[in-house]
Formats: sequence, C-alpha cells, structure tokens
Amino acid sequence: MRAFLISENESDFDAKVTDTSTEPVDQSDLKIKVEYSSINFKDTMVAAPKSRVRRAPRLIGGVDAAGEVVESSDPNFPVGSKVEVHGDGIGVSRDGGFAEFIYAPSRLVTILPSNISTKDSQVLGTAGLTAAQSILALENHGLKLGGEVLVTGATGGVGSVAVTLLAKRGYKPVASTGSPQESQWLLDQGAVRIIGRDEVTDKIDRVLGSEQWDGAIDCVGGATLANILRSLKYGAAVAASGLLGGMDIPATVYPFITRNVALIGIDSVEATPQTRAAAWKLISEANLDVSDLIDRVATLEELPEALGAVAKGATRGRVLVVPS
Ligand SMILES: NC(=O)c1ccc[n+]([C@@H]2O[C@H](COP(=O)([O-])OP(=O)(O)OC[C@H]3O[C@@H](n4cnc5c(N)ncnc54)[C@H](OP(=O)(O)O)[C@@H]3O)[C@@H](O)[C@H]2O)c1
Repeated sequence: MRAFLISENESDFDAKVTDTSTEPVDQSDLKIKVEYSSINFKDTMVAAPKSRVRRAPRLIGGVDAAGEVVESSDPNFPVGSKVEVHGDGIGVSRDGGFAEFIYAPSRLVTILPSNISTKDSQVLGTAGLTAAQSILALENHGLKLGGEVLVTGATGGVGSVAVTLLAKRGYKPVASTGSPQESQWLLDQGAVRIIGRDEVTDKIDRVLGSEQWDGAIDCVGGATLANILRSLKYGAAVAASGLLGGMDIPATVYPFITRNVALIGIDSVEATPQTRAAAWKLISEANLDVSDLIDRVATLEELPEALGAVAKGATRGRVLVVPS
C-alpha cells in the first residue's frame, strides 16, 4: 500500500510517499481502510528531523484517521463500521493515518455518530476533539450558556473548531489571533469579537488584571496562559491544551487563591472511550457545516508542503488528507 513513511537513523532522515506495508501491533487490532486523515500540529513535530516527539526510527505518520473497519474480532466494531481513530502511539510510536490502511486497538477507535461522515470527522480531527473536550471540561466546571469564552490561536485547528462549536452551543467566543487578516473569517465562524494576539501575550505588569472571561480555551500556553489566568472572572476556568507560545507559565498563585480560578489540563491522547464518545456527541449535537474550516485538501504527495505550512502557522482551520 502507499503511505507517508518517516525514517531516520544516525546519519539519514527521510519522509516520503512509498510502497510499504503495515502490521497489527496486537492480534486483536482492528484493520481500518483509511478514507481521510488530517494534519495536526503534532504531525509537524513527528515529521521533523531529530524529532523528540517521534518514538520510532521508522513509521507511517498521521496521528488520526477515519474510515471503514475491514477486519475485526471485536463484536462492538463490526466490519463495515465507519470509525475514527486517534491517540496513544498512533502516528508517534506506531503506524499512523497517512496510509491506505491502519491497524488500531478498539480502545482508540470510536464509531462515528450517524450525522458525521468520515470526511467531516477528519476536517475536525484530533484538534477538533481537543476543542470539544475543552468545552466539556469548562461546562463540567460550571460555565453557563451565553458566557464570553476567550479562544487563543483562533485561526488554528483547536482554536477555529473551538470558536465554531462554542458559537453553535450558545456561548460568545472571543477570538484572539495573530492573523488579523482572518478576522472576518473568524466572525463568520461565530466569534463575537476579535482581539489581537498581543493583547493576551503582552508582558505581565500586575499580578491580577481586570476580570474579563467566563472561560477560556488556550492552545498557546506560556505568557498567554499566565495572562488568561489573571483575567478570568471569579470562579472561572481555562482549559489548556497546547504550548505554541512556550512551556513555562510565568504566573503567580494570586488568581487561584483570590479569584478561585482553575487551570484544567486537556489531553486527547489518553482520552478514555467515554470522553471520546462525549466529545463526538457534543460535535454531533452542533450539526456543523465544516466545509468552511478546510484550508486545503492534501494528497500523500502534497504532505511535505502542507506539513511545512502548518508548522509555520500559515494555514487557516484544518488540512484534510486524502490517502488514496
Ligand atoms: N493536549 C492535546 O491533546 C492536544 C491536541 C491537539 C493539539 N494540541 C496542541 O495545541 C496546539 C495547537 O494545535 P493545532 O493543531 O490547533 O495547531 P495549528 O493548527 O497549527 O494552530 C495553531 C495556531 O496558534 C497560533 N500560533 C501559532 N504560533 C503561535 C505562537 N508562537 N504564539 C501564539 N500563537 C501562535 C496561530 O493562530 P493565530 O494566527 O490565529 O494566532 C496558529 O494558527 C499545539 O501546541 C498542539 O500540540 C494539543
């Protein structure tokens, strides 16, 4: 089968489309014919030379995929089921979705709701599920419908799906972006207003800012996350999933102990089947038209260029991958 294979040894790095095969890691793995995959930021890190994220010297990239089950010994996933797969070592330490077929254990596979096609599931992809998990986490913390929710990295995968889902669900997403030329597009996705990236990344001068946000979804981290913490309303929470702006959080304990705010970590990789199902249910209820979230559709051959564009932050929304 054709696949985007990444291989590296001490002297050579290669990432290209080639004829290869993939094998189950465990006898009970499901075999899925991949109809669509997508590019997530993590894919750019896995496909980089000397990657510290990649955990195998040779593997097929792609941290998620969707398609049809073609071999199964699990009665919960009969042959013919339309499914999505992501998480654990998929595309990181074992073969991923940039291929015609993928093997995966059933705990990483979800049968798609009937109103979500395999294509739409990958327009959303892991980034979209992370956005949905973030909303669920804020709601579990007490976010009330109609609240203003700050979304950072708003034109990216996590950010753009978060804006779209929040608006559909009855919240007021405020989009923070470093891409002001995309402001109208973000308003079209449902943002109630746009603020510049600088407004949430600027140097922190006081330990507490004015109370602005009923909640926040942040995939930037660093100073941005610290700034969000000091500007959440009393009792509000931020769901944090990314580190594009840095790993360190230059924050104080003040917002936690004087405003009772919460920092909730979001991890899609080890999400339980229950969390995955809840995230897909939230997405299914939103009845999204996701076509406007597609930046481009890439073939396997077009992956190097498309991965480069995502790595540079030069895409808007999501990159869909068609493996055959
Ligand atoms: N925890 C999890 O399970 C999980 C799952 C998925 C993703 N993530 C993480 O979430 C982050 C975003 O992923 P993604 O797939 O949405 O990436 P993406 O599609 O590449 O989008 C990232 C967006 O962030 C903004 N941005 C880029 N560089 C920035 C910087 N240095 N400082 C501030 N903002 C910056 C840009 O949006 P604007 O131009 O609009 O500002 C960019 O479009 C990554 O760190 C990724 O690893 C984590």
